Amino acid sequence: MHKHIEKIKSNESQPKIIKNIFNKNEIKEFLNLYIELPLTVHNKRQNVKKKRWLKEFRSDLENLFRSRLENEIGSFKYDNLVDDSGKEILGLFQESYNPIGLHIDGGFNYDNIIFKQTLIPLTDTGSTVIFKNRFYDYSTNFTINDEELNEKNLKYGQNRRSSKHIGFFGSKPFDETIHKKYLNHEKIENLIGLEVDTIYEWEIGSMLIFDRTNLHCSSSIINEKKIGLTTFTKK
Ligand SMILES: [Fe+2]
Repeated sequence: MHKHIEKIKSNESQPKIIKNIFNKNEIKEFLNLYIELPLTVHNKRQNVKKKRWLKEFRSDLENLFRSRLENEIGSFKYDNLVDDSGKEILGLFQESYNPIGLHIDGGFNYDNIIFKQTLIPLTDTGSTVIFKNRFYDYSTNFTINDEELNEKNLKYGQNRRSSKHIGFFGSKPFDETIHKKYLNHEKIENLIGLEVDTIYEWEIGSMLIFDRTNLHCSSSIINEKKIGLTTFTKK
């Protein structure tokens, strides 16, 4: 569990969607950056490609991003991993062909005062589901799939797997209508006790900001593929 839970809680707020925070040209530049970056992970099972935004790439976009985000959330530090050679990573581009399951992005250091995370859609079809429920632990994928739970060979920066969310939020079954419409890639039993806060419909030029403690996942709505840029902050 995180050590500074009270401080983390004092910075929490509702998820926030900011429309038209980036213009078309700026989005195009983020896509150019995505193309330029080296591929770091191609997970064939999940069918997701990941590219790390290495600090040495496009400092103009780094400045642009920082100033826009500071406007919304005040001062922050990046909470990022370093790559194999010790280079700082500013964010993560993900190109996904399948929806990403339920998880939190709490990071990997209990001393940190984890703060907000952001999502910038670079393609226009998709949605992200943010739950009201919160968890104060490492980055974790929440699953009841035995095979996933038994995955022991986790690499640096990979999320833990856990089923400790089951029962933690009570025993109320998840809303069947929302499950059918947005979350049919998840077993409904895996969503027990969860309540949706926000369904963010991806829109080019907008940005989603939410707390690192919020459980979340993609919706099942993907038009072939989607590309998004995520960043993680701490205080
Ligand atoms: Fe996430």
